[in-house]
Parts: sequence; structure tokens; C-alpha cells
Amino acid sequence: MPEFIPLISRQAIQNRVRKIGAQITRDYQGKDLILTGILKGAFMFMADLSRQIKIEHEIDFIGASSYEGTHSTGQIVFTKQPDLEFKNRDVLLVEDIVDTGSTLSKIIEFVTLLNPKSVAVCTLIDKHERREKEIHVRYACFSLEKGFIVGYGLDYDEKFRNKPEIYDLKP
Ligand code: IMP
Ligand code: MG
Repeated sequence: MPEFIPLISRQAIQNRVRKIGAQITRDYQGKDLILTGILKGAFMFMADLSRQIKIEHEIDFIGASSYEGTHSTGQIVFTKQPDLEFKNRDVLLVEDIVDTGSTLSKIIEFVTLLNPKSVAVCTLIDKHERREKEIHVRYACFSLEKGFIVGYGLDYDEKFRNKPEIYDLKP
């Protein structure tokens, strides 16, 4: 049986999401913000973050998948294209976790081709140990050196996304 070690509490998540939301509210004043979640892991973070951003903004999602079990397959598959027009607009990509960076670098490449006015990245977790691609993360709620975590949208083989707090998963 895997062991779940509590890592980040509900309260800690809520506090950080509120702070990052306030920062985005200030930084995107007068801009044309589209908050764009990367499915599926970012769904819970998106719902909370959007409510902490106090300026008008639109919501979209991009579907991308690269993981099987606890290993990145290296290949990313787009499972959903954005619905909104990104041209000349300020796109903020919202990720659950940046690991090797390969998923986000491909998504940024794709989004850049749509000619937005700006593209930036907001992630719940910025995990450093296995980073391969250089990614400029403008907003990160938490920084993590290594480990495999689940909960608050993050899965292991599609499970445990529903846990309201974040756990370190020990195999
Ligand atoms: P990357 O392409 O290696 O940066 O992987 C990014 C994706 O891998 C994330 O969007 C997650 O879906 C998944 N992932 C990476 N690390 C973890 C983890 O610790 N727990 C759950 N999913 C993870
Ligand atoms: Mg995942």
C-alpha cells in the first residue's frame, strides 16, 4: 500500500492562493486576462485562483497529458484546444506542477503561435530536481525540491485528485 505523508495543508494552500491571486490582480490591472488551466491537474487550483483574482477575466482550458504512473512519458498529447481567441490577449497559463518542464515548454510553443499579447506561467508547485527545459515561472505558490505528490488536483494514475490537501506519496 502506498503511504500518504501530509505535506501542504488546506490552510497553507488557501493562504498562498490568496496571495498569488492578489499579485495577479495587481499585475494584470488594465490587461485583457485569459486564465488558462492545463487539464486535468490544474482544475482545483484554477477554481480557487480565479476566485482570488479580483479583476475581470475569462477562463479557458488546454488539455495536455504526458504522465503514466509516476513517470513522464516525454511525449505530450493535446487532448483539448483552447476555445477562446488568444490573439492580442494576455494569456496566463495555470499548471498544477512543473517537473521536467517539457509539457509547459510545448504548450508555450503552441500558445505563442496563436499570437497573444503576452504569455506567462502560474503554477501551484514548482518542482526543481528533474527540470530539463528552462521555463520562466512568473508565479509559484510552492517550491519543491523533489518527490511525487498527490491531492488538490494532482494524481497518481488518475487517482487522489479529490484530496483537499497535498501529500507526499511514498511507494
Ligand atoms: P513535466 O512535463 O515533466 O514538467 O510534467 C508536468 C506534468 O506531470 C504535470 O502537469 C503533472 O500532471 C505531472 N506531474 C509531475 N510531477 C508530479 C507529481 O509529483 N505528482 C503528480 N503529477 C505530477
Ligand atoms: Mg498528471
